Amino acid sequence: MLRQVMLGVSRSSTVKDVAVRAPVTRHVVQRFVAGETAEEVVAATRTLADAGLLATIDHLGEDTTDRAQADAVAGAYADLLTRLGAAGLTRHAEVSVKLSALGLLLGPDGRRIARANAELICHAARNAGTTVTLDMEDHTLTDATLDVLRELRRDFPDTGAVLQAYLRRTEADCRDLAHAGSRVRLCKGAYAEPAGVAFTDPAEVDRSYVRCMKVLLAGEGYPMLATHDPRLVEIGRYLARDHRRSPDSYEFQMLYGIRPAEQERLAALGHQVRVYLPYGSDWYGYLVRRLAERPANLTFFARSLLSRS
Ligand code: FDA
Repeated sequence: MLRQVMLGVSRSSTVKDVAVRAPVTRHVVQRFVAGETAEEVVAATRTLADAGLLATIDHLGEDTTDRAQADAVAGAYADLLTRLGAAGLTRHAEVSVKLSALGLLLGPDGRRIARANAELICHAARNAGTTVTLDMEDHTLTDATLDVLRELRRDFPDTGAVLQAYLRRTEADCRDLAHAGSRVRLCKGAYAEPAGVAFTDPAEVDRSYVRCMKVLLAGEGYPMLATHDPRLVEIGRYLARDHRRSPDSYEFQMLYGIRPAEQERLAALGHQVRVYLPYGSDWYGYLVRRLAERPANLTFFARSLLSRS
């Protein structure tokens, strides 16, 4: 309930202006965002690699309003991939991309623009020796995102998808994408969705997550289990063993700044663990989703405000 309210309020441009300008916000942002520049995120990737962790890097931004901005986002990814290659980090890091940031919502031409920009990023990733995963946004974009994914996979078969366990359709989508060569990140889902399309009871979302994990781990693809939920991580480990999955045939994923000790614990147990590493100046939407996920984060935010006022 609190989460739905927060996600709703966050769409107000007044709230956004106040939040972005408050000096304290910066302090909270640093917990979840690896920096504003490509140099900073490359340095953070190096730190993770030294700790035995993989990364998937997200150039923050989702409110792209014109073609020039969409092309600039694609250019930023291409530049980042060149830097990762030069730093010898592409064995440790790939990129995560939102099609809305690449222009998907720019009217009738949006899909063509987003696909062209995604292709440019896939080329840059291939040249650098790594891969791209398409993030999943709200349910109105699921079909378009999966269509673009299918198109990209003709030339770039290693392009990864994200499926959200809170959507009622997702178990069926998992069956469609559990084939050889397919990389699928399974997460719970972070947007405010109506009950018609999504489970709203957290226990139902968890049960859906388990059903989806079973499909993906029993399949022939490469599952990427993205959750911080200790119960789901344990079930994932059990199912991977049960399906005789080798450690290099699946991975766990967590967000930068969330349960870092657990990330290191899983890596020390021999699991591949990839950290979702966001960077850039357009961090507002990402930060709101992280705060909405957990009341304790709001308390942390409020405490920072008080200690600075
Ligand atoms: P849940 O929210 O139930 O949290 C379980 C436990 O994890 C909590 O009790 C707490 O200990 C810890 N925790 C979780 N969130 C926290 C937070 N914000 N701060 C502090 N502690 C927290 N979503 C989406 O819609 N599209 C996408 O493309 C992606 N991509 C993505 C990539 C990766 C690598 C991850 C890990 C997650 C995503 N997500 C996402 C976000 C995802 O849908 C979901 O909102 C969050 O992962 C939180 O869900 P959990 O599975 O962690 O469970």
